[in-house]
Amino acid sequence: MATLSGTHDFVRYNAVARLFHAVIAALVLFNILTGIFGEAIEDIWQPFPAHKATGILILFLSLARLAWRFTWTMPAWPATMGKLQQSVARLTHGALYVLMIVVPFTGWIFSSAGKYPLSIYGLFDWPKLPVAKGSALAEAAHEGHEVLGFLMAGLVILHIAAALHHHFVIKDNVLRRML
Ligand code: HEM
Ligand code: HEM
Repeated sequence: MATLSGTHDFVRYNAVARLFHAVIAALVLFNILTGIFGEAIEDIWQPFPAHKATGILILFLSLARLAWRFTWTMPAWPATMGKLQQSVARLTHGALYVLMIVVPFTGWIFSSAGKYPLSIYGLFDWPKLPVAKGSALAEAAHEGHEVLGFLMAGLVILHIAAALHHHFVIKDNVLRRML
């Protein structure tokens, strides 16, 4: 069982949780940017093979992160946060966890129906799911990937804005305890 690290004058998230957060945040930002602007930059660089490999990586890192999440209790909310703020934060974090798994999974489903192999950075091929091209499942997963991908982008912007608001306006420890 991991303990919360208390070497600062405030209690931080444990080191593994902070590492998971930083690595997955960087990968998710990469995928949101390549997902949204990928087609626009295709003449310079074709980002979708890297988008797909990174998305698969996010899926499995997020499953590991979620499993780890059940082994510890988060540090108490600071006194600066009211009940409503706490509920909004809890809801946003829960939604981000769900999207970190559902968005890459929908990508894996509809890309399995495509003609291109799923390659993990050219190192090895990733197995495709048994999904037929043009099937209802492939179409729904494609639609879902687009809608939920944009929803995730919006939530991530809100989430980052909230973290910066805590740090620079409220001036509490919320951002520092996750860094
Ligand atoms: C957390 C991980 C992921 C995020 C945040 C993400 C996000 C996005 C976004 C926002 C788009 C643009 C949607 C549009 O304009 O149509 C997109 C497109 C795409 N994504 Fe992902 N994605 C992720 C994982 C994956 C995975 C795992 C795969 C496949 C293995 C994948 C395959 C694709 C493909 C092929 C497109 C282009 C779709 C099209 O041209 O219609 N994505 N992604
Ligand atoms: C880009 C993708 C990101 C995702 C998917 C994400 C996801 C999450 C999730 C799920 C949590 C809840 C942790 C838990 O209690 O288990 C969390 C917490 C947190 N995130 Fe992010 N995050 C992202 C980016 C960022 C960035 C860029 C920042 C900083 C600017 C940030 C700042 C924080 C902070 C400060 C917390 C802790 C809030 C608290 O004290 O309860 N996150 N994040």
